[in-house]
Amino acid sequence: MAKITFDGIEVEVPDGTTILNAARQIGGKVVPPAMCYYTPLQGSGGKCRACLVKVTAGSAKDPRPMPKLVASCVTPVQDGMVVENTLSEQVLEARKGVVEMLLINHPLDCPVCDQAGECDLQNFSYEHGTSGTRYEEERRTFDKIDIGPLIQLHMTRCILCYRCVYTANQLTDKRVHGVLGRGDAAEIGTYIENSLENEFIGNVIDVCPVGALTDKTFRFKNRVWFTKPLDAHRNCEDPKCCGKVVLWTRGEEVLRVTARKNEYGEVEQFICNTCRFDKKEMSDWTVEGPRHIARASVIAANHYELPVINPHVVSDLPEHVVDTPAGPASIPTSNPGQ
Ligand code: SF4
Ligand code: FES
Repeated sequence: MAKITFDGIEVEVPDGTTILNAARQIGGKVVPPAMCYYTPLQGSGGKCRACLVKVTAGSAKDPRPMPKLVASCVTPVQDGMVVENTLSEQVLEARKGVVEMLLINHPLDCPVCDQAGECDLQNFSYEHGTSGTRYEEERRTFDKIDIGPLIQLHMTRCILCYRCVYTANQLTDKRVHGVLGRGDAAEIGTYIENSLENEFIGNVIDVCPVGALTDKTFRFKNRVWFTKPLDAHRNCEDPKCCGKVVLWTRGEEVLRVTARKNEYGEVEQFICNTCRFDKKEMSDWTVEGPRHIARASVIAANHYELPVINPHVVSDLPEHVVDTPAGPASIPTSNPGQ
């Protein structure tokens, strides 16, 4: 086991745990944001730098600080490590830069994007970004690629997190898409014109943090915050599918079906295409009740619950992580310890 201090809070985690997952053990607003890391997907993380933190002491044996900010999703803890996230001015400043970088090529088309309201980049830029950009060059644009009848690709919105590539690799038996080209020319595509039709490929829609991959059957049908999410299940014939979903409804109409996500926006159990695209009648499902929305988002407007610190880890909350009842507590802009 390794004991680390994260934003002034001590937590003990198994050796090999990443700093991000150690922070998630604590919970609440000290947890760094993540745009590419995705717990169920092996190898994810290390692409977007959203989760940068400052390691002020490397370990008990070697307490020197790490010279640069590190990506918390791919850096394992060491016993005696001291890490700063919301307490570090340098981290908060760097994160503004990461938002600016991700938004260089991402269009500001939230008013017409189906992902609006549940978009990680929208939330990330709202919480950590600045209102302006210094970028003056021409932005990337792409020719439209048709990747089949179920999934819509908007390459201009892609932040190249690779989650959809790992999903296709790890959940389906035949990946036909990937990242083509490198650097500024990198894009998601199917090398030879191909459509994404594998039985579990619909999950790329759920893992995509932005609106680059959206559900064609839900396209322009409604705004997610006008829909009512319900937990539901069915006995799916596919043994690999859990059959547990969220129905996004308007009255008796099922507008779309997605997998269930946790407070970090990660799918708890993946679902098959039949459940996602073909079961759009209420009678197809056993409804369990309203979906609990654990994330700050317009979907949860008026019934969002503040992120909570895990009481098993911290019983006496330090002042800088106490949540206020007025809304999601703001991240301190200065180090109260200084
Ligand atoms: S399409 Fe979405 S999931 Fe795939 S790399 Fe781009 S942003 Fe990530
Ligand atoms: S979440 Fe850590 S680098 Fe993207």
